[in-house]
Amino acid sequence: MEITNVMEYEKIAKEKLPKMVYDYYASGAEDQWTLQENRNAFSRILFRPRILIDVSNIDVSTTVLGFNISMPIMIAPTAMQKMAHPDGELATARATSAAGTIMTLSSWATCSVEEVASTGPGIRFFQLYVYKDRNVVRQLVKRAEEAGFKAIALTVDTPRLGRRESDIKNRFELPRGLTLKNFEGLDLGKIVKTDDSGLASYVAGQVDKSLSWKDITWLQSITSLPILVKGVITAEDARIAVEYGAAGIIVSNHGARQLDYVPATIMALEEVVKAVEGRIPVFLDGGVRRGTDVFKALALGASGVFVGRPTLFSLAADGEAGVRKMLQMLRDEFELTMALSGCRSLREISRNHIKTDWDTPHYLPAKL
Ligand code: FNR
Repeated sequence: MEITNVMEYEKIAKEKLPKMVYDYYASGAEDQWTLQENRNAFSRILFRPRILIDVSNIDVSTTVLGFNISMPIMIAPTAMQKMAHPDGELATARATSAAGTIMTLSSWATCSVEEVASTGPGIRFFQLYVYKDRNVVRQLVKRAEEAGFKAIALTVDTPRLGRRESDIKNRFELPRGLTLKNFEGLDLGKIVKTDDSGLASYVAGQVDKSLSWKDITWLQSITSLPILVKGVITAEDARIAVEYGAAGIIVSNHGARQLDYVPATIMALEEVVKAVEGRIPVFLDGGVRRGTDVFKALALGASGVFVGRPTLFSLAADGEAGVRKMLQMLRDEFELTMALSGCRSLREISRNHIKTDWDTPHYLPAKL
């Protein structure tokens, strides 16, 4: 069957992958309310397209942290990609470079920073989990720098792992033969079976629950790479991130895998954008599956978006070719959305091109 949209990869991935792996990729925390809401909220934003504008040339290219990329659609860090396909993160890195955009590599990748760098040139960010043992962090950041990674995406929403019930039921563990490659030499590369989710136990053992704002200053003291704070969803935290010298903010709820009943990221975006007042770029991830979603995020002030699960599912379905096609479909849909809205470049996308259900008070009929 011909694939015509990004969401179709999920069904194929579900058929192909072992249940433990599919469940780990697909699930959200607890009731999975936020998981559904991350998608549903996009459907409450409608277009106000402009007509009779010459759209024979559309430019979807942009700049992120000074790097020119082909489109405002980038790859979010998702852990353990070799569970999806034997080529894992290497395939994702190749597909992302071919598409001319940015890949963020997870700390918990099944390929190391060096292996990913060896796939060839490409603009790559490194996602960081801060471990209790700060020597581990120091070494890892240094290795990412040396491997040519251009920024650190510091994940700030995971002092403990959210409760993902299927991982608990499945007694999630890293399949035989795979390791968290960046930590292998440090003897922290294994996720073993426990009477909980193996990953939740690993996080409880290794990740620093005491992480706080002062650690951004510490991180800045050990690296000159720009730091993106990933996981901000309030104006209050956005302002503090700016004060601490963040290079950018990623509005993210971790794909709805951490605290359930936080708003959809697309609902939180505008509050963060307003608080930041243009001082640093704001990005979004969570539920982006269509080019229209990308446009809506940009209209609400995002400088770009990241996709998580679409990478895993397209990788599982068809390896590097799958990820290439996933990125191409999002790009094509986004370009079409721009044409049909009367926007020729990203600069022309404005708040007036959309209408949200929070723009006007809820309509009530005169007679009830
Ligand atoms: C993630 N995410 C994530 N984030 C992070 O900072 N480090 C990580 O290692 C991971 N790993 C991970 C694994 C899986 C299976 C998923 C689904 C997600 C979160 C990810 O970066 C991103 O925030 C969300 O995936 C975005 O939502 P969508 O696009 O999946 O809806």
